[in-house]
Amino acid sequence: MLKFKENISLKPYNTFGIDVQTKYFFKITKATELKNILTQNKELPFQILGGGSNILFTKNFEGLTLLIDTKGIELIAENTETVVVEVQAGENWHDFVCWCLDHDYGGVENLALIPGSVGAAPIQNIGAYGVELTSVFKSCKTLDLNTFEEKKILKKECEFDYRSSIFKTHQKGKQIITSVCFELQKPPHRLKLSYGALKAKFADFSPSIQQVAAAVTDIRESKLPNPKILGNSGSFFKNPLISKSHYEKLKNKHPELPSYPALADQLKVPAAWLIDQLGFKGTAHGNAAVHEKQALVLVNLGNAKGSEILALAQKIQAEVKKVFAITLEMEVNVL
Ligand code: EPU
Repeated sequence: MLKFKENISLKPYNTFGIDVQTKYFFKITKATELKNILTQNKELPFQILGGGSNILFTKNFEGLTLLIDTKGIELIAENTETVVVEVQAGENWHDFVCWCLDHDYGGVENLALIPGSVGAAPIQNIGAYGVELTSVFKSCKTLDLNTFEEKKILKKECEFDYRSSIFKTHQKGKQIITSVCFELQKPPHRLKLSYGALKAKFADFSPSIQQVAAAVTDIRESKLPNPKILGNSGSFFKNPLISKSHYEKLKNKHPELPSYPALADQLKVPAAWLIDQLGFKGTAHGNAAVHEKQALVLVNLGNAKGSEILALAQKIQAEVKKVFAITLEMEVNVL
């Protein structure tokens, strides 16, 4: 019988640094432990934790918290142009990116320094600087919580979208991702340099994937707070999609409003711009604050409670709704 820790704080396990307690806690280091624990404790409520970088805890948890900490990267297929690697869910995402850079495998260099674990990455289809996880994702293995059997889920079944997948929609709470297969490129790499700051930096030469990752790291470090120093969860909201007619109306009042192309008759607008316009950037609300360099990032100034961060998020949502008639959707999971 595996022994659970009891009544421990989850503060070290969430990047917001929120101090909530879990009744029971267990660190999963072997995939078989996950199935055994869940089948032997069917009556116990449980929650799954990866890197804890997309979660806002607002209350204690009266059940079992399972931290996925399985490790391993295995080369499972190779041809002259690509490799397929299977990565265990508990690997740290950035460590995996560094492993790819060390082996000169391309595809994830724009996703350097994103906090979190490999197993959590497909859930919200992590993305940054013109690349989304879907571009390298091949398949994943899960523990199906209906059958308690291992399942292989292919990319076409995942319904990847902007910060979304089936693991965030109809399969939420029904599958636990245990490993992910990625298809990566051997040189020559197909670089993605469409993001403004990368395009400008590499206007005169074609960089290596290591140089792209270094540039991405610089940009992230200049705008985004390091969660080890200032608790945060990256972008708190998704960038909203609005209709072209709504955009035109807003543009009359706010000629500077930026936009990015989206589907059909929609446009994506940067939530950070909306929040910034309302004067929230850099402001503190008790122990919660809006980051001074990126208005989309909420931070824990010290001993913030999850409810304080949530209250600030709701205040921002209400103000954005009132002034711009836009509903901001949270990217972070509130528990
Ligand atoms: N802006 C402001 N004020 C700010 C920050 C940004 O007005 O304080 C405006 C500017 O017009 C800027 C635009 O917003 O050009 C976009 O800003 P940025 O390039 O920093 O990106 P973002 O849309 O705010 C998204 C992702 C980030 C990702 C970056 C880069 C979402 C929800 N967020 O942010 O992802 O790193 O693009 O690709 O899509 C995350 O998901 O946790 C995350 C950090």
